[in-house]
Amino acid sequence: MNTKSVSELLAQDITLQDVSVKGWVRTFRANRFIALNDGSTINNIQCVVDFENFDEALLKRITTGAALHVTGELVESQGKGQKVEIIVASIEILGDSDPESYPIQPKKHSFEFLRENAHLRTRTNTFSAVMRLRSALSFAIHKYFTENGFYNMHTPIITGSDAEGAGEMFRVSTLEPKNPPLTDEGTVDYKQDFFGKETNLTVSGQLEAETYAMSLGKVYTFGPTFRAENSNTSRHLAEFWMIEPEVAFMDLAGNMDLAEDFLKSVIDYVLEHNKEDLQFLDERLFNEEKTKPQAERSEMRLIEKLKFVTDNNFKRVSYTEAIDILRNSKPNKKKKFKYLIEEWGADLQSEHERFLVEKHFKCPVILFDYPANIKAFYMRLNEDGKTVRAMDILFPGIGEIVGGSQREERLEVLKQKMAALDIPEEELWWYLDLRKYGTAVHSGFGLGFERLVMFATGMSNIRDVIPYPRTPQNAEF
Ligand code: 4AD
Ligand code: MG
Repeated sequence: MNTKSVSELLAQDITLQDVSVKGWVRTFRANRFIALNDGSTINNIQCVVDFENFDEALLKRITTGAALHVTGELVESQGKGQKVEIIVASIEILGDSDPESYPIQPKKHSFEFLRENAHLRTRTNTFSAVMRLRSALSFAIHKYFTENGFYNMHTPIITGSDAEGAGEMFRVSTLEPKNPPLTDEGTVDYKQDFFGKETNLTVSGQLEAETYAMSLGKVYTFGPTFRAENSNTSRHLAEFWMIEPEVAFMDLAGNMDLAEDFLKSVIDYVLEHNKEDLQFLDERLFNEEKTKPQAERSEMRLIEKLKFVTDNNFKRVSYTEAIDILRNSKPNKKKKFKYLIEEWGADLQSEHERFLVEKHFKCPVILFDYPANIKAFYMRLNEDGKTVRAMDILFPGIGEIVGGSQREERLEVLKQKMAALDIPEEELWWYLDLRKYGTAVHSGFGLGFERLVMFATGMSNIRDVIPYPRTPQNAEF
């Protein structure tokens, strides 16, 4: 028996005797044509059943979602739409699927409905394509860094420090501590729950990655991060995956070069290796765009958009230049921005970021040299004393996809910044050590993995590019 995956079968161009394949029924038409899918590709293999040779009771059990083992002969297809098909010799029902209650029917389901069925949604074309792309992007990321001399490091998930200093952390606590730390009143002090210490889920692995960069040279992390920001947007999750490279002896300009080369390379990878899934999503999104009013339609198709990023230079613009542009622009003929940028120093909102990328520059933008007071404590202060060597990369349809900076390598300046923000030196003594012993210029950035997956798949809600989204309303699965 030639046991093969659907993708292997579809790639055959010769007739094969005695093939065997296992998968799930997508559709069963006219008591004759089974479309079988096993996840190996977006495409189904057509299995042609001569119903006169099969029990009616068995044929009734071939319903959408049922798991089958099919054997037969792989032949050139007579019909349109596929090159090869299986003339079925035997069918074994491995698992029935009750057509009355099975939620995933062969019709268009809304993404909201599918989100409530996150455990079954990868049985649809759209979600299986998205998750195959997510997997490929993850591989491409590890490949890029490995081939460029980086070491992968795992940073802690439970941590005592707030890497971003934004106070958006989830506290770690045990349900019923055996020897609970007590408050002065004698009640359990849940704050101090980690064996007597206060700990949180990490918001970023950056500070630990810096310690390794300052010995191993080039490192990167790729792990889960957690943010307790109560933002219900289509671009925020409470649990997301972040890629954070950190490099010794690299300044902000080098950081921009690295980020641009890296992003282009991983997008190139899926353009080359995931053609069928991208083609499917490109088509699906294009049809969806057609239902929108002309003015709201995206100007580019998905694949075009990806190629645009790989083939064009990112525009590098300072915060100060960006503010000038925004002050002198209107988002469209009549409207104003919801938040007006009144003065230098204000933080940009996503409407401003998207205006710069989508309307003004019409290409990915790297904004740099932000005001110190709207960025994290660890960023390198510029000679002007008011801006820091920060960079945010903005992508069309996404807004901020990367945030990074050159790090403050001068001990005294770092101490002053921490003091101004009430960050106790005792908490970050190990971080300060890097500036005491062999300090050097170094830089890094964080890429939000789900934002990258959104961009590469054209999906418009971040909940639809992670298997089980964690948001303020959703932690069911
Ligand atoms: O800009 P952020 O907060 O930067 C850092 O955490 C730095 N420590 C990174 C570094 O320099 N090593 O987050 C980095 C990226 C953002 O640009 C965004 O893509 C993503 O992480 N991100 C989120 N993605 C989904 N949901 C959220 N709540 C996110 N918050 C940030
Ligand atoms: Mg940021």
